[in-house]
Amino acid sequence: MLTVKEAIQQRRSIRKFLDKPVPREMIDEILEAARLAPSGSNRQPWRFLVVTAPEERAKLRRICWDQAFIEQAPVVFVCCADLVAYSQPSRLKRAQEFIDDKVTETLSGRFADPEFRAALLKMPDADLELFRAAAVANTYIAIEHMVLTATALGLGSCWVAAMGEEGEINAMFGLPKTTVVSAVLPVGYTDKVPPPRPRISLSEMLLRPLEAAVK
Ligand SMILES: Cc1cc2nc3c(=O)[nH]c(=O)nc-3n(C[C@H](O)[C@H](O)[C@H](O)COP(=O)(O)O)c2cc1C
Repeated sequence: MLTVKEAIQQRRSIRKFLDKPVPREMIDEILEAARLAPSGSNRQPWRFLVVTAPEERAKLRRICWDQAFIEQAPVVFVCCADLVAYSQPSRLKRAQEFIDDKVTETLSGRFADPEFRAALLKMPDADLELFRAAAVANTYIAIEHMVLTATALGLGSCWVAAMGEEGEINAMFGLPKTTVVSAVLPVGYTDKVPPPRPRISLSEMLLRPLEAAVK
């Protein structure tokens, strides 16, 4: 198993997979990496479908702009964000966990004020669509945990967000509108790891020189 640093450095988007199944233990390990991801207020909105059946992979390929490697990969994770994780009952449940875990004792600033927190909890249940961006952002963290774990296990993967019309994958699996399909992740073995793709330089990435903060 690679270290985190090695996995970050060696990961590539893999778009060609061998016809070799991914062992069940590896699928378990990839899902466990998603489960352990952090999320805002610990809402954990991520939900997954594990797809191995060839006819389902072929259908996903067609929906996802006919990208061939989706059908080729022995396992495809359909990665979703559940907006219901942001409903008032879920909010109350997670808030109670924060109290039980004594997280509240380590909070500071506005969040340390029990009245402020109580007011947040009393907020009426909003239109769940308001939470779409947060739900997807948090799900993306879990997906990258999966990607890096797959790399560390010697597997390849490729993020896929080109997913056809909104709702097509929902219709395929009978998922409700509150389950937002956020990405598709084909995973499998490869015999050819491509060289690193271009990245912007450190100075392009930083909005002001590092020297302004660190001597
Ligand atoms: C959110 C997201 C969506 C992506 N969607 C696709 C996609 O639909 N098809 C594809 O071939 N690659 C997709 N990619 C892969 C990117 O093209 C790739 O990460 C980028 O070109 C850098 O290459 P690397 O991953 O090998 O470093 C996606 C990547 C991300 C993070």
